[in-house]
Amino acid sequence: MCGIVGYVGHRSSIDVVLGGLRRLEYRGYDSAGVAVMCGDGVLRTSKKAGKLGVLEAELAAHPLSVGGTGIGHTRWATHGGPTDANAHPHLGDQGRLALIHNGIIENFAELRAELVAAGDTFTSETDTEVAALMVGRLYHETGDLREALRRCVARFEGAYTFLAVHEAEPGRVVGARRNSPLVVGLGDGENFLGSDVAAFVEYTQRAIALGQDQIVDITATSVTVSDFDGREVVAEPFRVAWEAGAADKGGWSSFMRKEVSEQPVAVANTLLGRVNDGDVAIPELTALGDDLLRGIHRIVIIACGTAAYAGMVAKYALESWVRVPVEVELSHEFRYRSPVINADTLVVSVSQSGETMDTLMAVKHARAQGATTISVCNTQGATIPRESDAAIYTHAGPEVAVASTKGFVTQIAALYLLGLHLARVRGTLSSSEREHLTVELLAVPDKIAVVTSEAERVAQLARWMADTRSVLFLGRHVGYPIALEGALKLKELAYIHAEGFAAGELKHGPIALIEPGLPVFVVVPSPRGSSVLHSKVVSNIQEIRARGARVIAIAEAGDAAVLPYADEVLRIPLADPLCEPFMQVVPLQIFALELAHAKGLDVDQPRNLAKSVTVE
Ligand code: M6R
Repeated sequence: MCGIVGYVGHRSSIDVVLGGLRRLEYRGYDSAGVAVMCGDGVLRTSKKAGKLGVLEAELAAHPLSVGGTGIGHTRWATHGGPTDANAHPHLGDQGRLALIHNGIIENFAELRAELVAAGDTFTSETDTEVAALMVGRLYHETGDLREALRRCVARFEGAYTFLAVHEAEPGRVVGARRNSPLVVGLGDGENFLGSDVAAFVEYTQRAIALGQDQIVDITATSVTVSDFDGREVVAEPFRVAWEAGAADKGGWSSFMRKEVSEQPVAVANTLLGRVNDGDVAIPELTALGDDLLRGIHRIVIIACGTAAYAGMVAKYALESWVRVPVEVELSHEFRYRSPVINADTLVVSVSQSGETMDTLMAVKHARAQGATTISVCNTQGATIPRESDAAIYTHAGPEVAVASTKGFVTQIAALYLLGLHLARVRGTLSSSEREHLTVELLAVPDKIAVVTSEAERVAQLARWMADTRSVLFLGRHVGYPIALEGALKLKELAYIHAEGFAAGELKHGPIALIEPGLPVFVVVPSPRGSSVLHSKVVSNIQEIRARGARVIAIAEAGDAAVLPYADEVLRIPLADPLCEPFMQVVPLQIFALELAHAKGLDVDQPRNLAKSVTVE
């Protein structure tokens, strides 16, 4: 969950490292620290509890005269609270070695006891300090930082990325990776390391994604990758599609606000090159072969959080278009039971970051059972697409705010493309049906833009409701996952009790929660999709209204049936009923964001959360 940056080159390493940390701060923000080689040849560290700004203020008050080598870390605490002492880097070899870490060393207690018995003293409660002290000891034996790190990782169980620098080897940063991400940025007379490409995209768009169980050794002019047995491996560079500046706020009040407004472009980019002449063909699926896709008997979508809700939306479309059973399961639940998976199961993982550990482990599990795996992902070089048989990238650009917005709508878009690709290959939709759906999909970006342009009305509603302590969300069919997503957004951003329910469940229990004045958002299905569902939801609105709920309906343009019963109606443009979720979710995102604003909360970095959940 932490963010890691490393740099060797001709620039001031502190500037590069702090800039990288700023772009990676969404990964964890309870403390931060740097270790840099200073002009006098001494390795110095500075670390502080709190957000990156606290460390920056400390460095402004006590500047370091730095050279061109440094590492930096922004933390989401696992072992030990967010204190100065527990912040990374941690030191070994009498303070001459500094090490940072993302992940968890599961056997750290046993290794710590070993080190204490051997005479080492610990200054923190972290698992990371074990690694710093061990690499320090092995450096003494080997005199070589890469070799010391290589021997050390052989002792660790768990997930980790480490970066280490040693005072005796200025101009060198060494890293190791198992199950946690690490990407190398290839510069000219300089090289970079980062948890993801956002750390260095400002300087270079050439990158290498480190593979599983690999060590990387960078200087200003060289990058060497080897495996944990010390054998050199050839690593293929790729071009980062994100533009420099894409991970900046660009004048918006928050990353989330910016990302909400980017949704039309993000969806358009996801569709680009995949919809041609009224049909969908996803080039990334060619290598799998049509025969394999024709032989699929079942689709299982695995994901967590918002990504799982995108999967739930897509289930309705995929079953309708492809005529195969689709299950959606939370990755962590899938992984630790005994799912029935075989060679004719297609397992589709959905992950914006491509690093969610629960989803990664579920993908590995599915693959081991013989399933074909496709990753829907937004981040080039991430682990999950690398571990899958094929990847469909969402091209949303970097999503920095912890709360996923453009990630969500582009995941639905990519899953819909997958559905239409399968429908063509398997012949389950006629060409005119496919053409109609592609026209509808291509119209989505402009329709989302219509909804984002009405943000002020939703913001006003949020300001009126700033003191609300509880909000319910109801939806049915594809509106049900949208209700769940609306509730999740409000919980994570505004720290308000929020629940999403399938509207059909109301009388099976949740209606007992309704009391006078309780705000309830109702996602109303299009009467053009199913007049029966529509009238049932309108009846639900009447039922909760009769018990005093304050109803905010999200309904399509022209739906007059809700008017007599809803206190507020937020309109979305007419669309194919399966495409309505793209628009319905937008007011809910804006509502949560604005309510958090009204409460004076940090919408980009909500408490206790981190963007990439890279530990189970
Ligand atoms: O990177 P991923 O898509 O795998 O992340 C999955 C969830 O952790 C993520 O969607 C989370 O629920 C968001 N904070 C929701 O806004």
